Amino acid sequence: MAVHEPQRSSPGSEEQEFEFHTGEIRASGEPDAIEFVDVHKSFGRNHVLRGLNMSLPENKISMILGPSGTGKSVCIKHIVGLLYPDSGDVIVHGESIPSLRDAELFETRKKFGVLFQDGALFGSMNLWDNVAFPLRQHTEKGEDEIGEIVNRRMREVGLGGEGAKMPNELSGGMRKRAGFARSLVLDPEIVLFDEPDSGLDPVRTALLCELIKEIHAENGGCYVVITHDIMSARRVAEHISVLWKGKIVESGPAEELFASENPFVRQFLSGESAGPLGME
Ligand SMILES: Nc1ncnc2c1ncn2[C@@H]1O[C@H](COP(=O)(O)OP(=O)(O)O)[C@@H](O)[C@H]1O
Ligand SMILES: [Mg+2]
Repeated sequence: MAVHEPQRSSPGSEEQEFEFHTGEIRASGEPDAIEFVDVHKSFGRNHVLRGLNMSLPENKISMILGPSGTGKSVCIKHIVGLLYPDSGDVIVHGESIPSLRDAELFETRKKFGVLFQDGALFGSMNLWDNVAFPLRQHTEKGEDEIGEIVNRRMREVGLGGEGAKMPNELSGGMRKRAGFARSLVLDPEIVLFDEPDSGLDPVRTALLCELIKEIHAENGGCYVVITHDIMSARRVAEHISVLWKGKIVESGPAEELFASENPFVRQFLSGESAGPLGME
């Protein structure tokens, strides 16, 4: 889906203030887990992030919502240091990710659990080995301890006893849950979910949302869920950032966003056809 340029009342001005978040970051009382500071990122002539200012709070489930192709996955890749900004900074727990050297980045990555769209399982390994993989790669733990952790996480996501299955024997929902179990084995402080609801039917999406909430309640940490699905947002989001055209239109506690007066936010969160978001 493409979007129309917003209407501009004064032709000279770059954009109206209400259309985009002005960039000031609200004081939430405690330091945020993740901050984007005036991030620009282009691929050739495609200017994807256009001065993105976004902060994601500690210990909450945050959602980044936006139409397809707005740069949501690009944001996740900046957080884990798979992409670097052309300018601006991405700060995780006070540390500038683009400034880290390779060895430091390798260390810092241990604090992230990432759930990619399709679960990103290794097709040649059974589920159990997939879930154990980060522990074998990143820790010196023995197989007994690894076994305990893997079994616990597999049970937690409802896959206890399924460890011998190969990824291609599983439904999409099971693959996502396996990816979720794998993202948790290193006890991450930050868990990033890229469209966990894509390709799932509404019932399985609802179940996965419940699972994310339960596991967050138990483990805490900063969870960031990227989605274009408003129902998922209603179910799990405590904090919402609406991304459009490479910037935040509005962000804040979920209940405030669902009561927003901003025409784009209203249209997007209600799924109405009338508003600044167009078809072409
Ligand atoms: N590695 C890349 N090289 C070139 N273009 C990219 C790359 N990654 C993303 N893009 C482009 O950036 C834009 C945003 O992509 P993405 O973040 O995947 O959107 P979404 O919000 O749907 O996750 C798209 O136009 C996409 O084609
Ligand atoms: Mg994406």
